Amino acid sequence: MAVAVLRRAVELGVTIDTADSYGPNVSEELIAEALAPYPNDLVIGTKGGWNRPGPNQWTHDASPAHLARGGGRQLEEAGLDRIDVYQLHVPDPVVPFDASIETLANMRSEGKIRLVGLSNVMVEHIARARKIIPIVSVQNRYSFADRRMGQCCGLLREQWDRVHPVVPAGAGRVAGRLLERIAKGRQVKPIQIALAWLLERSPTMLPIPGTSSIAHLAENIQAASLQLSENEYLELTGVVELAS
Ligand SMILES: NC(=O)c1ccc[n+]([C@@H]2O[C@H](COP(=O)([O-])OP(=O)(O)OC[C@H]3O[C@@H](n4cnc5c(N)ncnc54)[C@H](OP(=O)(O)O)[C@@H]3O)[C@@H](O)[C@H]2O)c1
Repeated sequence: MAVAVLRRAVELGVTIDTADSYGPNVSEELIAEALAPYPNDLVIGTKGGWNRPGPNQWTHDASPAHLARGGGRQLEEAGLDRIDVYQLHVPDPVVPFDASIETLANMRSEGKIRLVGLSNVMVEHIARARKIIPIVSVQNRYSFADRRMGQCCGLLREQWDRVHPVVPAGAGRVAGRLLERIAKGRQVKPIQIALAWLLERSPTMLPIPGTSSIAHLAENIQAASLQLSENEYLELTGVVELAS
């Protein structure tokens, strides 16, 4: 099923986000199986620096050696010549942040990476990384239900219009009476309203909802053409902020 979802996603113009820790490596193998040889216009973003040795276990390793080795292995497993977007998955508490970013900058100079992004970062990390290399994306958790990183997205929008906050939908978990009421009135799903709200937040917002279903994939793409009214947008924006 994952292979069918990947193929349909690319047919519909979706870009792919993965990480070497997803599996580990399973996600990249599936991408290669489903999509190689890759269309020229397909963008695949991946992440390195956070490992998943087993279920519910996450360990840091954003050391220069690990990032360089991991990037090379990902290229091999995905059968790619170059990684389109390589994102530092999370800053490593025992590796200087600049050392991780300089490694990505070196990999870019060597032609292994086209663009560099960050994930799970604070505004300070973005500013520091940008002193070393241009940063094209920031993948932070931000959704209708979880707005803790809102300051980061807000600042990105105001100051750095070329940086794309990238967010998991977080929408599989959202419900709530307001989402349901608006969704019911429009005969769509609450998750579609949550995605439409995210897209309305900023022209540089790029939600990355996960799904294992072709039907859900279609619904999520359809959400991009939903136009919220000003009232709906304000209501959706205000209600959680007041409650939180
Ligand atoms: N950088 C990070 O540290 C980090 C952390 C977490 C996630 N991510 C990224 O964010 C992406 C999404 O994360 P995620 O998959 O964990 O969470 P998610 O997108 O918030 O939610 C996925 C859940 O929503 C359901 N869903 C999706 N579309 C639906 C629809 N139209 N109707 C009903 N249910 C729907 C899925 O079920 P079905 O499978 O049944 O559709 C799945 O259970 C990941 O692929 C990953 O790349 C990054």
